[in-house]
Amino acid sequence: MPMSIRALGPNGFVGEISGLDLTKPLPSADIAAIHKGMDDFGVLIFHGQNFTDEQQLAYTQSLGPLEVAIGFNLRKPGDQRLASPHFADVSNLDKDGKVYKRDDRRWQFAIGNRLWHSDSSFKVIPAKYSLLHARALPSKGGNTEFADMRAAWDSFDQETKDTCEPLVCEHSQMYSRQKLGFFDITPEEMPRFKPVRQRLVRVHPSTGKKSIYLSSHAGRILGWPDPEARAFLLDLTEAATQREFTYSHKWAVGDLVMWDNQRTMHRARPFPVNEPRDVRRTTLMGNAPTAEQEAA
Ligand code: OGA
Ligand code: MN
Repeated sequence: MPMSIRALGPNGFVGEISGLDLTKPLPSADIAAIHKGMDDFGVLIFHGQNFTDEQQLAYTQSLGPLEVAIGFNLRKPGDQRLASPHFADVSNLDKDGKVYKRDDRRWQFAIGNRLWHSDSSFKVIPAKYSLLHARALPSKGGNTEFADMRAAWDSFDQETKDTCEPLVCEHSQMYSRQKLGFFDITPEEMPRFKPVRQRLVRVHPSTGKKSIYLSSHAGRILGWPDPEARAFLLDLTEAATQREFTYSHKWAVGDLVMWDNQRTMHRARPFPVNEPRDVRRTTLMGNAPTAEQEAA
């Protein structure tokens, strides 16, 4: 069956792909069609992909250079469930496959994913595509929602656009966690929360289209008083995540969802805390920083 893409939902930034088995190496024409699909849509959904970790890695690598996931959560090196440093373990499972206790600080930290964000906006070179694969799911809840930051930008009035255009924000996972009341960071962990700079408006490297670059990790605007900056970022986020710009994905085991962090935000939705949710992310590295700064 040849590959085809069907638009899902009313807002045209989510595509569902059929006719591809991603567990096998793909011909370059299919790889090119997937990149084009990402430029046309921003989020692509593939069903029934029964990946092993190696196959997910191989598919991701066939699209471009991988990001290393170290420093994405509070798991220490000896505490990893997944062997490869290229996997972001987005699950609620410890090294032995047991569901985190509710008061586990690794779980509390992971809840940060429930805030709208763009992956690795806290890194000097933020992420390009994220590829999240579902291995085991809770009985209910746990959708992932997406928001189209290009359509949101297009909807802003000229005055808002003129205000945003020159601004540079500081992003750190510390800011997103503090918003949820999580302050439990040890002195040894502190260095990796050093804020990085991101432009508030970014131009997509392949489509040339602008989008508003928001993320819960954004906590300051350079040159602005903090409360004014936070209030402005909250207003922008509220405007950009109105229903007309969003899509909610209900997972099935074997789904692979790929999103372009350069154009979208996403967030996790809650699910029963005592049930396993095993979802594994591989990530493609972005091409360049969005703002000038010292190297990491
Ligand atoms: C991620 C993420 C959301 C979810 O993998 O980067 O934010 O629903 N996931 O697990
Ligand atoms: Mn994420």
